[in-house]
Parts: sequence; structure tokens; C-alpha cells
Amino acid sequence: MTDVPALPVRPWLDATRPVEERIDLLMAEMTLAEKVGQTHQVANIDPDADADAIAAGRISSSLYASGPTGGNERDEGVLVGNIDAAQRHAVERSRLGIPLLFGRDVIHGHRTVCPIPLGIAASFDPYIAEQIGEVAAREAVVDGVAWTFTPMVDISEEPRWGRVAESLGETPVLSGRLAAGLVRGFQGDDPSEPDRLAACAKHFAGYGLAAGGRDYDTVSVGENTLRNLHLRPFKAAVDAGVMTVMAAFNDVDGTPMHAHEHLIRGVLKGEWGFDGMVVADWNGVGQLVNAGVAADLREAAALAIRAGVDLDMCGGAYLAHLEELVRSGEVELGLVDDAVRRVLRLKFRLGLFERPYAARPGASNAPTPESRAVALRAAQAAHVLVQNDGVLPLDPSAGSVLLSGAFVDEGEALLGTWTLDGRGEDVARPGAALRERLGDRLTVADGRFSDVTLQQARRADTSVLLLGEHPSRSGEAQSVTDIRLPHGQLDVLRAVAGLGKPLVAVVYTGRPLDLSEVLDLADAVLVVWHPGVEAGTALASVLLGDVEPHGRLPMTFPLSTGHIPTSTHQRPTGRLIRADVDHEEGRYIDALTYPRLPFGLGLSYTEVDYAAPTASSSVLSPDGSVTLTVTVTNTGKRPCREVVQLYFRDPVAEVTRPLVELTDWALVDLEPGQAREVTFDVQAEQFAYAGRDLTTRIDEGDIILLTGPDSARLQSVTITMKKDS
Ligand code: NOJ
Repeated sequence: MTDVPALPVRPWLDATRPVEERIDLLMAEMTLAEKVGQTHQVANIDPDADADAIAAGRISSSLYASGPTGGNERDEGVLVGNIDAAQRHAVERSRLGIPLLFGRDVIHGHRTVCPIPLGIAASFDPYIAEQIGEVAAREAVVDGVAWTFTPMVDISEEPRWGRVAESLGETPVLSGRLAAGLVRGFQGDDPSEPDRLAACAKHFAGYGLAAGGRDYDTVSVGENTLRNLHLRPFKAAVDAGVMTVMAAFNDVDGTPMHAHEHLIRGVLKGEWGFDGMVVADWNGVGQLVNAGVAADLREAAALAIRAGVDLDMCGGAYLAHLEELVRSGEVELGLVDDAVRRVLRLKFRLGLFERPYAARPGASNAPTPESRAVALRAAQAAHVLVQNDGVLPLDPSAGSVLLSGAFVDEGEALLGTWTLDGRGEDVARPGAALRERLGDRLTVADGRFSDVTLQQARRADTSVLLLGEHPSRSGEAQSVTDIRLPHGQLDVLRAVAGLGKPLVAVVYTGRPLDLSEVLDLADAVLVVWHPGVEAGTALASVLLGDVEPHGRLPMTFPLSTGHIPTSTHQRPTGRLIRADVDHEEGRYIDALTYPRLPFGLGLSYTEVDYAAPTASSSVLSPDGSVTLTVTVTNTGKRPCREVVQLYFRDPVAEVTRPLVELTDWALVDLEPGQAREVTFDVQAEQFAYAGRDLTTRIDEGDIILLTGPDSARLQSVTITMKKDS
């Protein structure tokens, strides 16, 4: 007889069993302490200092970040060696061998950084979003990351809020489709495949309404507006199979989201049937104390677990108190079981039990020609031409060009917020990229403006000024009170414009800006967001016309800071709003209220004519569809990619409905002189909305369908919703 202990039987490791059965088998073995351990996430796990806690089953997950607002701060990066060393304690030393889950904010690329999400949204192209997710996942797994905290689908009409840079625009359908694209890219068909990550739709819900655009601030919104606007892209992400959802820091009408049982447990998990995991935001459970709805961490833990928050991100309230709360009977064991089941479901679905270790000897995640090609296409698709009097495209073989402004020789600054693993040295810089194309015809001035620069501008045939915001001015906790260009830049613009020569302004930004003076002074204006590693190459290709600009504004640009909010969310009031006369209607006495640049705007280097839309039928049944047709003709001399947009208005409903709402679009390539019929399959359910009783309804009556190149230049056709039609 030998003395070797019998191998523990772990039937949940049998991957041929269904996931739910594996969870049952595992949970049947777990102590309460081990269960609570599965609800606890730490920051930057240390394989040595945390060894015993991991082996005791007291840690479920770790995220890697420089701190609670890590988006604009570099950290050491993820050390895959650390991850595997920590994992070894979990898999080999803990009683049940439950693997740890490692997360990181891989938001718009990992090493190969693509445009910020607001730039991705400008592409109006879910396939680009999918490719970005796929490349990012492939690179992030090499560093041991298994879970990312994207897409962010917070709807906002608040350019002061720094986090609009991370958003996918102001409309639910655009945001939802791009989020679905990102989810597909990150998770694939089977998230347990080696090159995939779990995605996370965040921040649930209403975060984009933070009062005054002040990050984390309170939110006053009714459930009807939530359902008709803010919840919709979350639903789209859930329908696309997103595996996790993050709770938001804000309250909704007095109830902090980390304690919002109705929205998390009721709507998300109940009504929508979301069976994935809800993660807190960083110490969001503990912050219930700061918000004044819990006296201490113990009470905070009870509120959050009841609300349906499954994993406590970097706070410790659950670990410290859940066990005792269950033993005292204040929290039902079933609530903890529900949370643990969801955490384990995620781990099983990700294949962590089969493949817990991350190291891939010899694997590199440095940008490759293929990954850079995705980044280039994405950056080009994000360039939005908002004004052009003919100065663009620049003639690549004629005239001299001065390139000047704050971003001429920038690398890292063009990556944007939340690029924890991007590197400045990977960035194609604007100066170098244009020099490659224009050779001696280009003069590059340094970022500091001086009389010398002015002389250079005087001598050049055309000046290109790179203006805008550094990414440290956007992202988390980076709100501003004034959306004009940062100090000094307008002076430079005025000085160069004063020379009276052709002037192109390129605007790097993480938010809609007040571009009034830029539009007044420059002949052409290109909004390029923070474009990522191919910033310079993309810019040169668009300026010189190798690629036709085809991005569209995913958020409205208001006339001024004082006009916020201005967006397509505007609903009719008792006193009608008409852009041409509304100054007579008492909206403001010192300004008009129309947007400076409307949602959906984006020019190309040609002209496109839109015929009036026609519908295949003038009536539509509540479960039917009609075909809408619009003919678009390229009447100019260059090809283009047109974003043909379809909006609607529901003129009489139970509740006020938006004046225009984007409901579909089509990307259409047109050669010079070419005409194409674009058809939209319009389903009645596109006009469904939450009524006064908050249930979803489709009304009889007229629906106005509007097509055009942006939200301000639309032609309409009216159809009638009718039962039995
Ligand atoms: C706080 C941010 O709100 C969230 O978006 C991010 O994913 C987490 N920190 C983790 O870094």
C-alpha cells in the first residue's frame, strides 16, 4: 500500500458535459467562503503577495490598470509571467482549482491602436468595428488578457463629458450595431477559441447623462427616456452575445446603479434574459457609501448583491462582508449563488478550465502589416470632411505645403485615451508621412508657433494646420467647461488665415468641439479624432486624395458650449421648434439653436444628388415591412463612398418622440456619374417604442421616413401603420 492521496475527483473538468451541469457539479462542492471568493476581483494581482489568498480560493479575478482612472496613465503593461504564476496558485494549489480571470481595458486596439471609439463610430461600419475587435483580441491574449472592458455604449449628447471619446456616438442604432461588431470581433463565434476575449458592455446605465458633463455626476432621467434611448445599445450588445456588463458609477434618479435592483436584476437579467456576468465598476460597490445610500461597506455589499452586481471590482466589500451577511440571514444564499453561477459560467464559456495558462512562448503581439492595414482602413474611415471649398484634395504634384500645429510630430498623443499598451514609436507621424509623399515641397514647422512659422506660411502655397485636443483632455475624469480649442490655437489659426492663402485645418479631438471660428477661417476642415498608429499615413492619403473621405459625424457638433445639449434626441415641445424661425420662439434670445455641424455630416471630394425616397407601399402592418428606395447619383468627377442615411419621425405617439431618429444606413460606392438605387428593408418593429406604461408598442398612424446625406438634409415619404394591411 502506498501513501499517495487519491486524486481529487473533479467531474466539472469534463468538457463534454454541458456548462450548466459543470457549474452544478462545481457549486455542489463549494463552501460559502469559496463562493464569496468567486465574487472578488483585485487590481494587479501579485503572484507572491497574493499567493495564499489565491490558493485559499479568495480571489476570482484580477484586472491590470494603473489605478481607478487608468485611461490616461501608462502602467507597466501586463506581465504574462505574473499572470501564469498567479494562475498556478489557483489551478494547482487551491482546493477546487478554479482558474482566475484576467481583465484589462483593451478598448480600441491593444498594440495596434485604432481610432478612438468615437472615430470608429464615424466609420458607420460595423465590419470595421469587428476587425478592430478581432485584431485587438489576437494581440491581447498574447499578454494573458482574457476579458476586456469594451464596448462602451453610453449614449450622450454632452461634449463636455470627456468619456464621449470612448462612446460609439449619440444614436442607439449606430451605437448598438457598432457594439455588436466589436463584440463579434472580440468574442468570435466561440469565445473559448484561443484568440478571443470576453467583451463587456458598459456602463449600465445612463452614465452619458452625468449632470453638466461632470464625470460620475448624478443622473436625472425617467425610465421612458432610458428605454427609448439609453438602454437600447445595451440590449443590442446583449443580443449580440456580450458576455459581461459593467454597472455605471452614476445614480439614476437617486438610486446608484450599483444598487439598482430594478434595472440590473429586473430589466437586464430578468426582462432581457441576460445570463452573463455583471461586474461592478472600480470600487463601485464601496462607493455606495460615498453616495450616501449605505452607512458602511457591509450595507453596500448587501445592496449591490441584491441589485445583481456579481463581481466586486477592486473594492473588497463582498469579500469582507458577504459571508457574514448570508450567515446572519440578511442576504439570501440564493443571491450569492446566482452571482457565483454567472462568474463560473463566464469562466467555463471562456475555456479557462481547459486552458488556464496564457504563455505562448515566442509569440509576439507587435503590429504586423496585416494589423496595420486594419488600423489604416479604420483611421481613413474615421476622417470626416466637414468643409471644403475645393482646396482638397491637395494636388500631389503641384505647389508647396506648410504643415504646422501641435500634432505635427506627435506619436503617442495620436493614439487617444485608453491605449494602455499602445506605443508612440509605432505611430506613423503626420510630418513624416506627408514628407514621404510630398518630399521637398513640404515644409514642416515645429509645434511652437512663431514669426518664422508665419513666414513659412507666407511662402507656401497652402498651409495645413493640425489643431485640436491632446488625449489627456478626453477620457475618464477629463471633462471640460469649454469646448472651444485649447488656449493659443485660435491665435495661430487667425494669424495664418490672415495671410489669405488656402488653409486646411485638421482637428484631432476626443469630443465634438465648438469649431465655429475654425469653420469661418479655414477653407477645408477635416475632423480626424485620435486616429491611432496609422494617424500620419491616413491623413496623407485623405489630404492627397488617394482615399476619398467617407467618415460621418457620430455626434452633433453644437454652435457653442452654451448650446449643449444639442443632438438628434431633441423631441418636439408644445411650442414648435423650427431652425429657421426658432429665435422668435423664445429658445434663446442671443443665439439660434440649430447645430453647427449636424449628426451624420461628412463630405467627399465629389457631389452626390439624392432623389426623393419612394416606398413600395403606403401602408404597413405592425408585423410587416416595406421597401424604401432612394436613388443617389454621383454628379462629380471623383468616386466616393456615400453613407446613405435613413431616419424616421413618428409624428403622433403616446409619448414625445425624436424629431428625427437614425434607423438605418447603407454604405454605397459610386463612380463618377454613376447612379444607384439604394433599398432599405423597413420593418414595422423599427418604429416600436416604450409607451407611457413603459411597455413596447407599435401605434397605428403615420410614420415619416426621411433619407439624405445627413440629419439636416433630408427628403421624406410618409407611410401609414395600419392593422390588417
Ligand atoms: C473605471 C472605468 O469607469 C471603466 O470604464 C474601466 O473599465 C474600469 N475603471 C477598469 O479600468
